Amino acid sequence: MRADLTICAAYNAFVSTILVTGGAGYIGSNTTLQLLDAGYDVIVADNLSRGHREKVLPERLRQVDLNDTEGLLRVMAEQPIEAVIHFAAYIAVGESMKQPELYFKNNTAGSLSLLTAMVKANVKKIVFSSTAAVYGMPSKVPIPEDLPYAPINAYGESKVMVEQLLRWFDEIHGMKSVCLRYFNAAGADPQGRAGEDHDPETHLIPLMLRAIQTGTPMTLFGDDYPTPDGTCIRDYIHVTDLARAHIAAVKHLSAGGESKKYNVGTGSGFSVKEVLDAVERVTGKKVPHTMGPRREGDPAELVADSSRLRNEQGWSPVYSGIDQIVETAWAWANRPK
Ligand code: UFG
Repeated sequence: MRADLTICAAYNAFVSTILVTGGAGYIGSNTTLQLLDAGYDVIVADNLSRGHREKVLPERLRQVDLNDTEGLLRVMAEQPIEAVIHFAAYIAVGESMKQPELYFKNNTAGSLSLLTAMVKANVKKIVFSSTAAVYGMPSKVPIPEDLPYAPINAYGESKVMVEQLLRWFDEIHGMKSVCLRYFNAAGADPQGRAGEDHDPETHLIPLMLRAIQTGTPMTLFGDDYPTPDGTCIRDYIHVTDLARAHIAAVKHLSAGGESKKYNVGTGSGFSVKEVLDAVERVTGKKVPHTMGPRREGDPAELVADSSRLRNEQGWSPVYSGIDQIVETAWAWANRPK
């Protein structure tokens, strides 16, 4: 055998391939970068309905819908898949309360189709993008993982249903899963390679940055919450730290670990007004804004107790200071386009 082929064969024997669904989206594209940096090979399955084609190298992209079980099976047949990281989902809470059918079809039925393909292809490890929305209005903050499911919107319910599917796929098919319940993903790749580009954008930090760029005021949703300054408190986690949690989860599963559920947050909360202060401090510019009424369905305070992830997987946030989150998001918002 030629030397280069020998090297190539040896390389392939050691490089694990991860199938990333939704890799053309915000968290999926950032996690793909972290996986590649960590030496994994990545194939992205995305239907591009809300993701961005330019975020994925063409040779990695397979344009396929989650509900196309046969299409997913063909992707899984291309090469051995070590694990699936499943991001592909709709994420807009407000939309989910107008068109719940979209959320149950894409998020829940789509996940069932993916799990069905995985069983057929004998791929038995999955990291699932879950959400703090599974807790609804939590009875305890910081929120531990053992609070009961209590979603207050169809988006949260669509994710709860997948967590429940995963329990049965483990029990019956031996499929091991890590459900990562994200708090507020924010920020951009520190090297400027990927960031947040939702359409429409609903998230606080990009909307504040856009208001600075356009001069058009954004609205703060309510200042009459039972919090010190009256605005909602959230746990902002840098997308790179979130991506690192996925790699820790893959390593756990590759080592033969059991199914797990983990919150991914920093354990520190910032109010909307504190985020506004941070944005003005970092950018050196005023955020044009007005004060509006509460947005329906917003809990006053969502902060993660992520001690389980820290203690069991040795993960801890590195990039999630609020200033660093805003700095990277601001650099992304000002990238050359
Ligand atoms: N906010 C404003 N003005 C805006 C947008 C947001 O004041 O224009 C406030 C919200 O009311 C909230 C905070 O900023 O208090 C954060 O809002 P985001 O929309 O950025 O994020 P959410 O906390 O509403 O949602 C996030 C995820 C959801 C997930 C939810 C879990 O984006 O996908 O956490 O509770 F469901």
